[in-house]
Amino acid sequence: MKPPGKTRQSSRLKIGVLYGGRSGEHDVSLCSAASVAAALDPKKYDIVAVGIDRDGRWYVQDRPVIVADKAFGRVLALQKKGTWLVNHFEEGSRLFVYDIASGKKVALDVIFPVLHGTYGEDGTLQGLLELACVPYVGVDVAGAAVGMDKDLAKRLLAQAGIPVVPWITASRFAWGSRPAAVLRRAQKELCPPWFVKPLRTGSSVGIRKVKTKKDLACAIDYALQFDTGIMIETGIDCREIECAVLGNDEPQASVLGEILPAHEFYSYEAKYLDPEGAKMRIPAKLPARLAAAIRACAVAGFRALNGNSMARVDFFLDRKTGGFYLNEINTLPGFTSISMYPKLWEATGLPYRKLLDRLIQLALLRHREKMAVQTA
Ligand SMILES: Nc1ncnc2c1ncn2[C@@H]1O[C@H](COP(=O)(O)OP(=O)(O)O)[C@@H](O)[C@H]1O
Ligand SMILES: [Mg+2]
Repeated sequence: MKPPGKTRQSSRLKIGVLYGGRSGEHDVSLCSAASVAAALDPKKYDIVAVGIDRDGRWYVQDRPVIVADKAFGRVLALQKKGTWLVNHFEEGSRLFVYDIASGKKVALDVIFPVLHGTYGEDGTLQGLLELACVPYVGVDVAGAAVGMDKDLAKRLLAQAGIPVVPWITASRFAWGSRPAAVLRRAQKELCPPWFVKPLRTGSSVGIRKVKTKKDLACAIDYALQFDTGIMIETGIDCREIECAVLGNDEPQASVLGEILPAHEFYSYEAKYLDPEGAKMRIPAKLPARLAAAIRACAVAGFRALNGNSMARVDFFLDRKTGGFYLNEINTLPGFTSISMYPKLWEATGLPYRKLLDRLIQLALLRHREKMAVQTA
């Protein structure tokens, strides 16, 4: 297969910024996308905003329009105009979208999915982009799917010798058929307070911290509203430390940041609804040796989960023991210009606009490598 055509090297790249989407983090995505669309260098790129509504329909916008929003400040507007079809196969290395109402056709050179959570961050969209043979920003299929599944991720991390918080899982079926056994296991193998989480959500959706057996049962019922399986963990009295990782074959770790939630934990309310819900401290105040160990662990975790492109790797630092655990990897972390991931890179010497350039470069590099692989 030929590399991206000569004509496109001389003209500006058309970047399709995908945003919105079918997950519970739709609104967060509109906010992240506003920052990305505003910061992509217009001298280098033509920006095409492609909004995805809550039902999964795609809408190419006439031009990116940023509007004020009560909860999120600035968001990218999502206008539902036209009947757009996505064509995966017309020509390798570009993604085509057509409006069957007007006959308009748009070809995108690189996709920048600014989509958090299900159907954006979980490998499904990445699968579609792989089928289309189009370069895209962010981790690819396996890394996205594993990063999204808290149980799969922890099993791989544990196998790589990375410390993770003790956990058990239960399916909806197991909870429906043998609830007493699930409760007994949690009490026997884990220490209260317990955290109960859906297996594959983000933004703390569906998560509760509980201390009694009765509340544990309620929290399991609650979490199962958001997924077909849940995870129960020992609650750690911890500081929350985050690291930004960037790169394909040679991933680099940023300086560390700390989240200081004003609520009992870093809940959805603390993250998005309460303007005073949490503070960010960059760099995190930590002894140099501990910071170095956490950064190395972030890169090791990124590799263990098939990471490439980018991820924010989150840690719990146990206040009692001084040890740390890798909590989770977010492969499409919050991306507003004041979000932790870009802020960590800024503090490491890579400003927001340059970070976007680097992510696009990494997407093109990975794509070129994949295209060089013999498939027949
Ligand atoms: N085992 C735990 N011990 C202490 N706090 C936890 C634990 N698990 C989750 N939390 C709290 O809940 C928040 C969200 O949990 P997390 O696993 O990161 O889910 P999400 O993918 O929704 O961000 C964390 O940032 C932390 O504040
Ligand atoms: Mg988290």
